[in-house]
Amino acid sequence: MTTAQHPLPSGFGAASTAEEVIKGINLTGKVAVVTGGYSGIGLETARVLRSAGAEVVVPARDLERAQDALKDVPGAEVEYMDLLDPASIDAFAEKFLASGRPLHILVNSAGIMATPLTRDARGYETQFATNHLGHFQLVKRLWPALVAADGARVVSVSSRGIRFGDVDFDDLHFEHRTYEPFLAYGQSKTANALFAVELDRRGRTEGIRAFSVHPGTIIDTNLAKHLPAEAFRAAGAVDAEGRTVRDPSRQLKTIPQGAATSVWCATSARLAGMGGVYCENCDVSPLVSAEEEAAWRAGAETPGVLPYAVDPEAAARLWEVSERLLTR
Ligand SMILES: NC(=O)c1ccc[n+]([C@@H]2O[C@H](COP(=O)([O-])OP(=O)(O)OC[C@H]3O[C@@H](n4cnc5c(N)ncnc54)[C@H](OP(=O)(O)O)[C@@H]3O)[C@@H](O)[C@H]2O)c1
Repeated sequence: MTTAQHPLPSGFGAASTAEEVIKGINLTGKVAVVTGGYSGIGLETARVLRSAGAEVVVPARDLERAQDALKDVPGAEVEYMDLLDPASIDAFAEKFLASGRPLHILVNSAGIMATPLTRDARGYETQFATNHLGHFQLVKRLWPALVAADGARVVSVSSRGIRFGDVDFDDLHFEHRTYEPFLAYGQSKTANALFAVELDRRGRTEGIRAFSVHPGTIIDTNLAKHLPAEAFRAAGAVDAEGRTVRDPSRQLKTIPQGAATSVWCATSARLAGMGGVYCENCDVSPLVSAEEEAAWRAGAETPGVLPYAVDPEAAARLWEVSERLLTR
């Protein structure tokens, strides 16, 4: 059944932390994979899932740095995988499948933002290839383990950056339009949200449910390393004195708050039987109406997800296009 893109309400909110949303949940016997689980909100997600008893596997493109970042997460496993290297994704998935373990939770938190234009070995634009296509391939390859879990959840860490741009199916890799770092980021994050819609549709009969997440604006992570300090001030995340502004009501969150919606989507019993929705502030997001979208384009703050990011037809099209892109 399709889940309504509408707040439940969940009882949690913008200020809730990952530890708060997992309180009372026992993940003993469950297996989780967290991409990007060695930095930022992915690291906090991995830490909190592990603290609730889950076996946690972190695929990393820098094993040494990952082991160091996870030294305070006893038992977390690190394996090599680079989302820009399809062979390494296959190798990671093959090793995981060979272990015979089911996969109950997959949190796709790895990502890059607003990078200068670069392309992978296939010629694909790097933000799309990392944020969307690498995760798409990972899910496809891990499918048998997700099915074996008999009740798996896949969390696709998207962003309010979906508002920077829709998926341009005519020019996914910026071969014909001018490259803009945030336009490309927006495309990749819209792809993350659409991926959850179609993954949920295809997976639900096999027990796989999917969610996408906007974590908030968390400036303490490494994501914004390509941005000048001025960008943080312009976003209101840093005040005139250079101090970090914390205000969850305006999405300005700490790392524990930023990881909360991923952990909530991965574990909450409130979401049983649901999926295919975009979530923020530890709840299902409202769908932005045409009036709200017009107000937002005129400068107003409006929460929620724009319809194009959860459009089922675009989601189905993206899945088919992504399958073709993997064959090149
Ligand atoms: N922070 C925010 O304000 C914010 C807002 C909205 C959405 N998000 C989303 O939240 C997610 C996590 O971001 P974050 O803020 O926690 O950033 P972060 O601290 O930079 O963490 C990102 C992680 O992704 C990994 N990664 C990047 N490229 C990879 C690749 N090719 N293969 C494997 N791993 C790769 C990074 O590994 P390396 O260290 O090796 O690069 C790092 O571990 C991202 O998807 C981001 O788009 C964040």
